[in-house]
Amino acid sequence: MVNPTQTAERVIVALDYPDETAARQLLNRLDGIPVWMKVGMELFYAAGPAFVVYLKERGFHVFLDLKLHDIPNTVKGGSASVTRLGVDMFNLHAAGGKAMLEAGLEGVDKALAPGQKRPLVIGVTQLTSTSQSVLNDEIGIPGAIDDAVLRYAALTKQAGLDGVVASAREVTGLKAANGAGFVTVTPGIRPAGSAIGDQSRVMTPKEALAIGTDYLVIGRPITAAPDPREALEHILEEMSEA
Ligand code: C5P
Repeated sequence: MVNPTQTAERVIVALDYPDETAARQLLNRLDGIPVWMKVGMELFYAAGPAFVVYLKERGFHVFLDLKLHDIPNTVKGGSASVTRLGVDMFNLHAAGGKAMLEAGLEGVDKALAPGQKRPLVIGVTQLTSTSQSVLNDEIGIPGAIDDAVLRYAALTKQAGLDGVVASAREVTGLKAANGAGFVTVTPGIRPAGSAIGDQSRVMTPKEALAIGTDYLVIGRPITAAPDPREALEHILEEMSEA
């Protein structure tokens, strides 16, 4: 039986909001539950670094989902800046190559304050919105998407990153190839009976835990629920049965 606090610490709520007011309303509804909060480009570009600092002051773990992708020197600086903000997890596009990924880690090391816990640095493999034909015909990468994902994941591991963002369906293969300690962060989570929306390959929270997913990114099943707190509590209950 998983303890509910430990379970909550594996849920990352996607704060996909256009402004801080809407995000704060959700925080107030979920007060006291030790989930992580994910700030992506929509909210970050609107509310800025101050909102990340605010989340940290309220005691939340923060995943800053900005998917850095640039020349190594720029990514090094960007990674240093997000580390100074005190985030607990952030991500880089594996497509930037090994030197870029390593530069990101150098930026983290350079910026860590004495006693500060090192953030988890996570690779983005192939976006789940990329179809086979987009991969092959538009981007010009040959082969199957699954192979591209495994190749990108291997690169992030070689570069020294902690893990990858991946569909829950990919977790078993990623762990087999990179070891059980390779962190998997998985969106596309839908509690039994909830709306799938624009996600295509979904898994329930219970199934995702059972196959060894480390962190579950959950947005609309919580944020769009009539009672977000009740929706989250229901998810945590389901997870504690895994
Ligand atoms: O609302 P929903 O649960 O679908 O939200 C999932 C979150 O995970 C969104 O913030 C989305 O941008 C993010 N994400 C995703 N698929 C990826 C990477 C990130 O859905 N491959």
